[in-house]
Amino acid sequence: MLKKISSVAVLGAGTMGSGIAGLCAKNDCKVVLLDISLEAAKKGLDRIINSRPPIFNPTDKTPSIILGTLNDDLDKISDCDWICEAIIEDLQTKRHLIDRVESIRKNGSIVSSNTSGIPLRDIIKDMPMRLQQDMVITHFFNPVQVMRLLEIVPSEHADNDKIEILSKFCSEILGKGVVNAKDTVNFIGNRIGCFWMLSGLHKAHTAFGNGLTIEKIDALMSTPFGLPITGLYGLIDLIGLDVMDLVGKNLAANLPSGDIGLNFTELPKIEQKMLRSGQLGRKSGGGFYRVSKLEDSTKKKETFNLRSEQWEDFAPPSLKSQHNSIEVLFSDDVEGEFCWDVMGSTINYAADLIPEISDDIVNIDRAMRWGFAWSKGPFQILDSVKPINMIKKLEVNKQPIPKMLQLLINSNSDSFYRKNESEFLNQHGEYEPVPDE
Ligand SMILES: NC(=O)c1ccc[n+]([C@@H]2O[C@H](COP(=O)([O-])OP(=O)(O)OC[C@H]3O[C@@H](n4cnc5c(N)ncnc54)[C@H](O)[C@@H]3O)[C@@H](O)[C@H]2O)c1
Repeated sequence: MLKKISSVAVLGAGTMGSGIAGLCAKNDCKVVLLDISLEAAKKGLDRIINSRPPIFNPTDKTPSIILGTLNDDLDKISDCDWICEAIIEDLQTKRHLIDRVESIRKNGSIVSSNTSGIPLRDIIKDMPMRLQQDMVITHFFNPVQVMRLLEIVPSEHADNDKIEILSKFCSEILGKGVVNAKDTVNFIGNRIGCFWMLSGLHKAHTAFGNGLTIEKIDALMSTPFGLPITGLYGLIDLIGLDVMDLVGKNLAANLPSGDIGLNFTELPKIEQKMLRSGQLGRKSGGGFYRVSKLEDSTKKKETFNLRSEQWEDFAPPSLKSQHNSIEVLFSDDVEGEFCWDVMGSTINYAADLIPEISDDIVNIDRAMRWGFAWSKGPFQILDSVKPINMIKKLEVNKQPIPKMLQLLINSNSDSFYRKNESEFLNQHGEYEPVPDE
């Protein structure tokens, strides 16, 4: 019977695997790190030692991590409490490895996959019941040592006591904010965050026709709503259009029919052209923005005009003072309409996804705060603009009322949280205490 986690095997020493292994080693666990070759595993160790921001302080001694290969050294995982798979995102490759893990691991150990979006049910399909009970998804965010969010997704056969031990370890020892997610496409953070990004890319093309610019859109999709200053395009430049394209394809294959996200899974035409030409984002030297160093060592920032398809000097945006707050959502001009169209839809989308992706609003709000660095989650934003204002605008626009707003109306409540956010409205229309973080 597993009591606590003190030894961890990480399979895959790439970006995510090295981050997870480094964090566990930093917190005094015995760590085994395996990859397809010893060279790849050593690269992972280098990544841990030289990570930016650092996992280890310069004064710390070199972490003692046992390295090896997946082919020759898999038996090194046999006494590990937690085996975390973080290899390439390919179902058959993951299944093949997990199958081998199952024949070697000790009784009582817990297994997880760090997949970004492959359903757990597909990974464990037809596997022994012991594995179906002991395997979860642990979806860490990149960079692992920085991002607080960890989504844990159990299977329908999960051993809840074991999951509790893993959750406790990840929150108390690794310092993660654990959110309970369900086995649905993209889990919680990326389901809502990718809807915001992909629908935003599409809706922006109409907004350009109304005079908005990339710079202005990023100014609107950031400070007024308490979102990071990268805004929409700055964030996609960080992620890369190639990754966004894969995310869209995964959504197209796995979103339930009728989900409004299905309207936005393909990149808009111009963005597809950028993808084909390798203009992906920061990793390719530029995407929607690019920064170049001039001969006099100063930096020049440019923006890619998606209408003319030409690079132009970055034009610092200025917002009307009344648009600098969340109230822009209700403004009747071009900027307000764009915010309603993108941010309003995203909030309403989130308010329609209970119980599909989460049993409560708290997990959704935490996922967006801890995984996307929003200062408030969708339901906290709703409370700050007053849900009744949102409902009125939806009614005026003849738009459907999302499930959680309807529940709020039916239960005669006027906010999703009350008593200084110590209680939240549950999916049965009753208030209950907000669980500890
Ligand atoms: N990078 C992210 O932002 C991010 C965030 C959350 C989850 N994920 C998920 O985490 C997992 C790992 O992603 P990553 O970004 O660390 O990728 P990565 O490419 O940095 O690392 C993948 C590792 O898998 C190894 N590998 C390649 N082919 C293999 C094979 N056939 N068998 C076994 N190992 C093989 C590689 O040597 C490499 O070290 C993926 O499932 C990914 O979807 C990634």
